[in-house]
Amino acid sequence: MTTTGAKPAGAESEAEAAQSVRQMFDAIAPRYDLLNHLLSANVDRLWWRRTARRFRAVLARPDAAILDICCGTGDMTMALLKHRPAGARPILAADFARGMLSRGARKFRAHEAGAAYAVPVEADALHLPLRSGSLDLIVTAFGFRNLANYEAGLKDFNRALKPGGQLGILDFSEPGGLLGMAYAVYFRRVLPAIGRLVCGKDGPYNYLPRSVGNFPPPAEMLKLMGETGYEECAWQPYTFGIAGLYTAKRKTVA
Ligand SMILES: C[S@@+](CC[C@H](N)C(=O)[O-])C[C@H]1O[C@@H](n2cnc3c(N)ncnc32)[C@H](O)[C@@H]1O
Repeated sequence: MTTTGAKPAGAESEAEAAQSVRQMFDAIAPRYDLLNHLLSANVDRLWWRRTARRFRAVLARPDAAILDICCGTGDMTMALLKHRPAGARPILAADFARGMLSRGARKFRAHEAGAAYAVPVEADALHLPLRSGSLDLIVTAFGFRNLANYEAGLKDFNRALKPGGQLGILDFSEPGGLLGMAYAVYFRRVLPAIGRLVCGKDGPYNYLPRSVGNFPPPAEMLKLMGETGYEECAWQPYTFGIAGLYTAKRKTVA
């Protein structure tokens, strides 16, 4: 198995990779939402909504225990909340970058007047502070790719899920063909330049295309999911495969 995890420039160990990712997100947190919507021409909103719809059956159950890990500034969580009924158990929204999480927490507070709400939790996706077999659903949007060890992440998610509990991983992908070639120019050249201009920093938006290039392609991810205790593993491409949603269930029999 060649798959390991994110490798930000200069990081020589998993601990350094995690630290570098956390510092990078803390640094771009004030501009993150603006850049996200700008660089994706708001398509990111469709992707979050589509992901939430995919899990509407479990979201509709008031007692379902749900975690949005790597929640960042909380937009995936907000899309999930739209499907929660009145009085439902709060969604746990976790991230290890405080600058990102505090912005998410503000959105959740504004929503609290509505029926369902979310609780922000500062936590590392590779060491979830949650009981084994306690969750019905884990969702992560554009966060999994940044983990320092993908296999360890999948295993800890598996541990925290109930048997039969569901996993959704929304992340970027590299489309093939002519579109893929055109997109690669945008993603590797135009996007880092806009990112640098708006957020005044060089690193994060150079890291983004590199991290997508380093992320296992769907066949490899699905194999890894199968080897780490999941069944019914599938990948649904979104918007010509620029992004896509991995879905799976924790095996009911180990
Ligand atoms: C690209 S942002 C995505 C945020 C949000 N889910 C969204 O869709 O906009 C990635 C997030 O993953 C978080 N992250 C990366 N590695 C993590 C880890 N090991 N534990 C917790 N959060 C992590 C980062 O702090 C960052 O907020």
